[in-house]
Parts: sequence; structure tokens; C-alpha cells
Amino acid sequence: MRCAVTVFCALELERGRGRGTLRLRGEAPRCRSERPFVTDRMSEARCTELRDAVREKYRTVSREPSGQFPYPVGRESAVGLGYEASWLDAAPSAVVDRFVGVGNPLRIRWPRHGESVLDLGCGCGLDVFVASLLVGPEGRAVGVDLTPEMIERPARLAAGWPHGKAEFRVGTIEKLPFEDAVFDMVISNGVLNLVPDKDVAFREACRVLKPGGHFVAADLLVTDTVPPQVLSSMDAWST
Ligand SMILES: C[S@@+](CC[C@H](N)C(=O)[O-])C[C@H]1O[C@@H](n2cnc3c(N)ncnc32)[C@H](O)[C@@H]1O
Repeated sequence: MRCAVTVFCALELERGRGRGTLRLRGEAPRCRSERPFVTDRMSEARCTELRDAVREKYRTVSREPSGQFPYPVGRESAVGLGYEASWLDAAPSAVVDRFVGVGNPLRIRWPRHGESVLDLGCGCGLDVFVASLLVGPEGRAVGVDLTPEMIERPARLAAGWPHGKAEFRVGTIEKLPFEDAVFDMVISNGVLNLVPDKDVAFREACRVLKPGGHFVAADLLVTDTVPPQVLSSMDAWST
């Protein structure tokens, strides 16, 4: 049996100015699949079951992230991924400690001053706080996450955040609680691999982006066949 190979990857997409489509900027990550970012359709019941398993997993992560992932987390990981020391010193330490991303989307395209940024599956919100530093007080950084426990802490800390506007909302990537065309940039970090219906996730990201807006994702990419026992494992899906 062939094994799935998982690689860390990053990609940048731009929303076309005319029709609501996303096109790739730069080179696509190398991948064997002809439909690299799309999973086969699952039943709605199965999607709900997977979302419940993810919520359960991240409820635990919100309390104590260390030991929950096969890769480093917290400040050590963020430093290794190129987050600047000044960003990590400015962000609340409880947020830095709970960073469980797999890459650094903000280094691929830095948000410009005054822009609005949406972080899909923001978790404890490090990328939201950093984006709000970069866009400044005239800009806006918003995080949305499925797991209420993940965003309780950052939502509280955002109230006393002196560097800009950081906001947090409970919601799903598949049905974003925002109007059309309101963000200049959408980011995600270690999240799309957890979303059962990736077609819908990309469509929603495209819907909330302004024409010409950017979507930058850092994620895990499977580059080979996934064995059936892994595909049907809730644990594999929710980690
Ligand atoms: C690996 S963590 C990454 C957290 C954060 N991006 C970071 O870099 O620390 C994945 C996050 O995605 C959230 N998530 C997973 N599936 C989601 C979905 N369908 N809609 C919204 N959030 C989701 C989880 O609750 C969790 O907080």
C-alpha cells in the first residue's frame, strides 16, 4: 500500500477583478493530483461529524496546545517560521504560546496599511494580532473560528489591544458570517486540511474578498494516495 506524504506548503491566490474567481499567483505546490485543492464530496452528516471532532480536538488545544501536534507550537515554532521578534513581543503572550500554525502566510504577502484582513480558523489569533499591527489603526483584522473556546481568550485580550483593530467571531469557513467583497486579504494557517468541503471553503473566501483581493494559505498538502483507514479516521482528520 502506498503511503500519503504530507508536506507543508503555502499558496497565494488573487481574486479576479471581473468574475468571482481565484487565480494562482506564482507556482503551485508540486502535487500529483490533478485537482490538488479539492476533496471528493462528503455527505452533510459526515461533514457535521468531522466538524464536531475538530471542535472537540481544539477545545482541548485551547487549554494546553503542547503535546497535541507532531510539530512544534508556540513561540519556538513562530520564530522558526520567520515571525519577527517585534511581532511576538507585541502580541499577548497567551496568544503566542497557543500558536499552532504550520507556516507564515503574512510573510508571503504583507498586509498593507489600512487594509482589512480576515483569518480563517484563526485559533488563538496570533495572525490576527500581527495583521492588525501591520495594517495599523486605519485597518481591521478579523478572525473567525469554529471552536468558541479557541477565541474566548483572544477576544478578551483584543479589548485591551492598543495597536489597532482585532476582532474575533465564532463561525465556520464554509458559511462565513460576512457580506460579499469586504476584505482586501484572506489568510489561513493550518486550517484548510481540516475542512471537509474545500470547494465551499475556497468559494466563501472568494465571495468575501474584494475584487483584486488576495488569499494566502499555509497548510499541509497530501501529495500521494491516502490509505482508506486514514481517510476514515476521525483522529487523522481532526489533527
Ligand atoms: C491547526 S489550528 C490553527 C489555528 C491558527 N490558525 C494558528 O495558526 O494558530 C486549526 C483551527 O481551525 C479551526 N477550524 C477547523 N475547521 C474549521 C471550520 N470548518 N471553520 C472554522 N474554523 C475551523 C479550529 O477550531 C482551530 O482553531
